[in-house]
Amino acid sequence: MSNMYSDGLIEEVLERNDIIDVISEYVNLKRTGNNYKALCPFHKEKTPSFVVSQDKQLYHCFGCGAAGNTLNFIMHIENLDFIDALEILAERANIDITQYRGKSFDQKKIDKRKKLYEINREAALYFYKNLITRKNDGLKYFKSRGLSVDIIKKFGLGYAIDDWESLNRYLLDKDFDQELIYEAGLVIKRKDNKGYYDRFRNRVIFPIISPTKKVIGFGGRVLDDSVPKYLNSPESSIFSKGSVLYGLNLARSELGDKKRIIVVEGYTDVISLYQNGIRNVVATLGTAFTKNHGQLLKRYCDEVIIAFDSDTAGEAATLRGLDILEEIGCKVKVLRFDNDMDPDEYIRHYGSQVLKEKIEKALPLVDYKIELLKNNYNLETNEGKIDFIKESINILKSLKSSVERNIYITKVSEMADVPSNVIKSEIYGNNRDKKYKNRFYKDKSNSFTNNKYYNKQKLKPVKKIEKNGSYEIEKKIISLSLRSKTKYHKINSMINPDDFINDKLKNIYNFLGNYYKNNEKLNLDLVIDNLDIEESKLISEILHSNFTYDDFDKTLEELIISLERFKIDNEIYSTKKEIKILEMKENKEEGDVNRIKELCGKLIELEKKLMNMRVN
Ligand code: GTP
Ligand code: MN
Repeated sequence: MSNMYSDGLIEEVLERNDIIDVISEYVNLKRTGNNYKALCPFHKEKTPSFVVSQDKQLYHCFGCGAAGNTLNFIMHIENLDFIDALEILAERANIDITQYRGKSFDQKKIDKRKKLYEINREAALYFYKNLITRKNDGLKYFKSRGLSVDIIKKFGLGYAIDDWESLNRYLLDKDFDQELIYEAGLVIKRKDNKGYYDRFRNRVIFPIISPTKKVIGFGGRVLDDSVPKYLNSPESSIFSKGSVLYGLNLARSELGDKKRIIVVEGYTDVISLYQNGIRNVVATLGTAFTKNHGQLLKRYCDEVIIAFDSDTAGEAATLRGLDILEEIGCKVKVLRFDNDMDPDEYIRHYGSQVLKEKIEKALPLVDYKIELLKNNYNLETNEGKIDFIKESINILKSLKSSVERNIYITKVSEMADVPSNVIKSEIYGNNRDKKYKNRFYKDKSNSFTNNKYYNKQKLKPVKKIEKNGSYEIEKKIISLSLRSKTKYHKINSMINPDDFINDKLKNIYNFLGNYYKNNEKLNLDLVIDNLDIEESKLISEILHSNFTYDDFDKTLEELIISLERFKIDNEIYSTKKEIKILEMKENKEEGDVNRIKELCGKLIELEKKLMNMRVN
């Protein structure tokens, strides 16, 4: 499953986290026979259809189809990726899995990291208490910026009082090691090497929290216009500015249907937008947008909107980071604010509705890059036009889809007022650059490749038929079987389990046979007990397919006939295929000829059968 951790370790983690314990932390499970039941946490419902099996360590919702094991549950409910979910569960069971990660194992290092997290957590608590327990300048400052007490709490904001040693003393009192407090970056060594003093003094504090909810560092802002405006924790074994996004711990569960994240530059932008109902926001920590940021984001979302100040958004480093993000499959868009406003100023000035609308209209990365170029050149002059087109061509060449490329060729040609043919010949060259030729042929929309694909399908119609035809029919037969015991018996008198082509559906059909021997009505708890998760999933899919009928007997008969027809079709196909292969043989033996005759006879029989069915 994961390259980073062995299957054995994953199993160990699962074994030590009972699914009932884990899920109970999120929903109110009630025992029903062998299983547990609850209202599904993944969709709205009034009667419980969320079933958890302790024996199987699996859950399944018959309402929405959500299903899986403990890891899947954590991934789904916490919106985490596989590795993060695994780490959370490992931690819950007191397994230190960092030691099992690909790299060599160094217990000392791991113990140290743990301690650093603890120190940071204590420090964050200390700063927070400073801020909320009595009147102070920090609180006044946050209030002046319009932040509510709730939001202060949500982000764990704090205040470092105006003192040189208070935090250090506090942490030493808690028995933390001086050297580690220093390594966490909370104190600075005095010049004469005699002692340490607090790094953050008379600043409001923004704790930086990882997606797995560890305090990994801090940002501290002055309360006035003095410099430096912000101080950050220094780089350490747990904090690396270039791979951290502020606010991701909260944003990751607010991504919405589009799985979208907005990236801003400042701490206060994140908090201000969050408070105003735009919660899928993270910030870089005053650094360019890096490849690491891109990879981190891709783990959580499908679409990224960059809302940087215009100068930073245009920086080469940032653009490179964005290209990488796009290369790894994220949609990237850019949001621009006029009058040098930052997102916090913008939302405070125009309100969240206007900003929300603006977000929907963010420019795709290519458009943004072309706009940037346009602003760099004077398109009124020939020289400006030439340079603009030359630079644009680099952007156009990097586009993978020919459809997209054509759209932007038209756009650039209109902007520069130059015929699009000119731009095309610049891109493809007179002899049509080989590289693009190849790309063209790889393009799925190209009819040549489409034809090839079609032919391939033709060679394997058995599979195609099963997937689209018999499979659907078999599902309908199961759907009818699920309605009642009497209906099942009627069906059973006409269809054998072996008539099913799909194995999972065959298992379900077999299961129903046994089930109705001892039970009158269908009980979904028993279903999950006796079928595997894939089969349970199929049942809920069938229950949700809304298959309706007027006349049961007639419908059943039609289904049986269709299924029969599919089978004959399949047989005809394979018979024809065998005949063809034998006919193509260069030196046919007598046995081959006889076999061909035999097969032709069979073919005639089958086609007759099919004809008769059509007549009926
Ligand atoms: P305010 O609204 O003025 O509080 O700041 P902001 O959150 O809008 O931040 P700004 O746009 O000024 O800067 C963006 C980000 O860059 C900040 O959130 C910090 O992470 C970082 N930053 C800004 N100024 C400094 C600085 O002086 N030193 C360091 N290390 N980082 C800074
Ligand atoms: Mn600001």
